[in-house]
Amino acid sequence: MSALDPDPGPPPVGGEAAEVLVTIERFLADQQPGEASGTLTRLLEDIALAGKLIASRTRRAGLTELLGKAGVVNVQGEDQKLLDVYADEVMTSLLGGHGRVCAIVSEEQAEVRVLDPDAPYVVVHDPMDGSSNIDANVSIGTIFGVFRREDPTAEPVQTDWLRPGRDLVAAGYVLYGTSTMLVYSVGQGVHAFTLDPEVGEFLGTWTDLRFPDDAAYYSLNFASLPHWDSGMTRFVEWLNRDDTPTLSQRYIGSAVADFHRNLLHGGVYGYPGEIDRPEGKLRLVYEGAPLAFLAAQAGGRGSDGARDLLDITPTDLHERTPVFLGNADLVDQLERCFADGE
Ligand code: AHG
Ligand code: MN
Ligand code: MN
Repeated sequence: MSALDPDPGPPPVGGEAAEVLVTIERFLADQQPGEASGTLTRLLEDIALAGKLIASRTRRAGLTELLGKAGVVNVQGEDQKLLDVYADEVMTSLLGGHGRVCAIVSEEQAEVRVLDPDAPYVVVHDPMDGSSNIDANVSIGTIFGVFRREDPTAEPVQTDWLRPGRDLVAAGYVLYGTSTMLVYSVGQGVHAFTLDPEVGEFLGTWTDLRFPDDAAYYSLNFASLPHWDSGMTRFVEWLNRDDTPTLSQRYIGSAVADFHRNLLHGGVYGYPGEIDRPEGKLRLVYEGAPLAFLAAQAGGRGSDGARDLLDITPTDLHERTPVFLGNADLVDQLERCFADGE
């Protein structure tokens, strides 16, 4: 194939290339014709618009002095980057005020924000994931999950948002990479859309994405190897058990980007607990659970090493958990490696 050949070839993934040109708004509406009010559809459209705004600002980051720190420390004790703050504000301003979103849980906010007490949905999000990569022009993303309240007429209560991932009705991410891509599921498979920046629309790229059976990658930060326990050591030995390993190692340090690559090409991403930090680094509510929901919808799994991430009920908004996401057979194997030491 020459560099000028317009044929991109078959998708390198376990999904179907979109057959017709379709915007995300049209796809969402067609996918959920039974949803009486269309409220969830419009909520997801709001998130798509937030993704466009954040993508636009991300592309201009180097031009508009957005690189660097905002000068404040967030609830995790981490420096907030300006893009973290901007992305958090965009999500809040677009999701509030329509009677759709009762409350928002954000990595960047210590407390839950109740926007509209009578609204039916709760959104959890990590507005800017992988923000340590911003300065270096590496892919970053926004992760989101949506819960439907059991009783929207009642006062909002903690159990509206401290819920296991299995209760999610939608989840997804926007990846700000070489292109901007929105990947989401409402429990009917995983679908991916690419932003055409000239037209300003997310256009269908793949429907029904599935982790390919032949996984290509594992994604772990091996600098932490001395801090991992024996279960992880067994898993690493298993990954490298042959003279000619079938999996390559790839680690970006943006969970969204690592997850996305492994979704397309097959693999497992992990942020393990450590001996002195058994809870790991990633947050269950707005990182682990939404990505586990997507993984399950794509035929894969999410685990904390022993339990399915979707089964864990959080007790704190910013609860941390070890996170493993990817092909089901790889996550199963990882759990066996942890269980072997018990
Ligand atoms: P965030 O930018 O939202 O704080 O999340 C960063 C997370 C995750 O995206 C990534 O996989 C991990 O931190 C990288 O951490 P290490 O640099 O310790 O590997
Ligand atoms: Mn994150
Ligand atoms: Mn973040």
